[in-house]
Amino acid sequence: MAKPKVFVSRIIPAAGLDQVKAHCDVDLWEERLPPPYEVLTERVKGVDGLLCLLTDRIDAALMDAAGPQLKVISQMAVGYDNIDIPAATQRGIPVGNTPGVLTEATADLTFALLLAAARRIVEGVNYIKAGSWQTWEPETLLGADLTGATLGIIGLGRIGSAVARRASGFDMRIIAHSPETSAEEAARLNVTLVDFDTLLAESDFVSIHTPLTAETRHLINNDALRKMKRTAILVNTARGPIVDQQALYEALKDGIIAYAALDVTDPEPIAPDHPLLELPNIIIVPHIGSASIRTRNRMAEIAAANLLAGLRGEPLPHQVNSL
Ligand code: GLV
Repeated sequence: MAKPKVFVSRIIPAAGLDQVKAHCDVDLWEERLPPPYEVLTERVKGVDGLLCLLTDRIDAALMDAAGPQLKVISQMAVGYDNIDIPAATQRGIPVGNTPGVLTEATADLTFALLLAAARRIVEGVNYIKAGSWQTWEPETLLGADLTGATLGIIGLGRIGSAVARRASGFDMRIIAHSPETSAEEAARLNVTLVDFDTLLAESDFVSIHTPLTAETRHLINNDALRKMKRTAILVNTARGPIVDQQALYEALKDGIIAYAALDVTDPEPIAPDHPLLELPNIIIVPHIGSASIRTRNRMAEIAAANLLAGLRGEPLPHQVNSL
């Protein structure tokens, strides 16, 4: 029997790719940059399955271009705001993602950014490179303490909860705005649930862990930033558009908040000459939340398992939509 035809939109770790190659006739996009939308639309024509990344726009037109034989869309990421889920559901196409395996790596990166911002690590590195380190100084590069500080978590899902567990180890007071979390569950994590404005007003650190949706786009806007403490540090390892980047730029420049540390920007990549990068009080890294070797291997394995299950007509191990 002929193997199912699939398009894989980038080279992914062999842990997953080898599985896909063993069972499918694979058209693999081998370039470093993602296939442009028009190219993707051409390449998916006639495929039975699509393994994609968060850099691919998967909309209704693309699904229709693929054709009615398209049985499964498997994304190697936990977030799927790049995929039109209602359009997939309408067409009876299951969509898979890779939750769980990247929770700890993303929470680690969140904490790395939080600490780097609090203790001004990047400024310290640059200070040495600039030849400014002349002696131990009592009042140079002073940062913020974590112990006793209040961490406000927006979205106490898998990753938000893993961040809360880490914060407990640093003896932080933890509050969260998370309408879908029960008080009991929050209490188990030592977290107090609060409304959004209280979180903004009381937090020394605000960390974003909510998916990007129509409701969360620009959740952190001019208004929200002005409700935060002037000493506050904002960390975003979720999705760039949750923060209004222009408003953030102005807030950091004018001292409305103290610092930001971002793993995600809007758009991605951020241009190297973007004004945000000229500010001293921001750290930006290139969307590396899940970028550990073990995590990316596991993500690739799950993406392959989702793809292969969908091709067999079985429910996906991690399916986003109910059909
Ligand atoms: C990364 O951002 C992911 O959604 O997996």
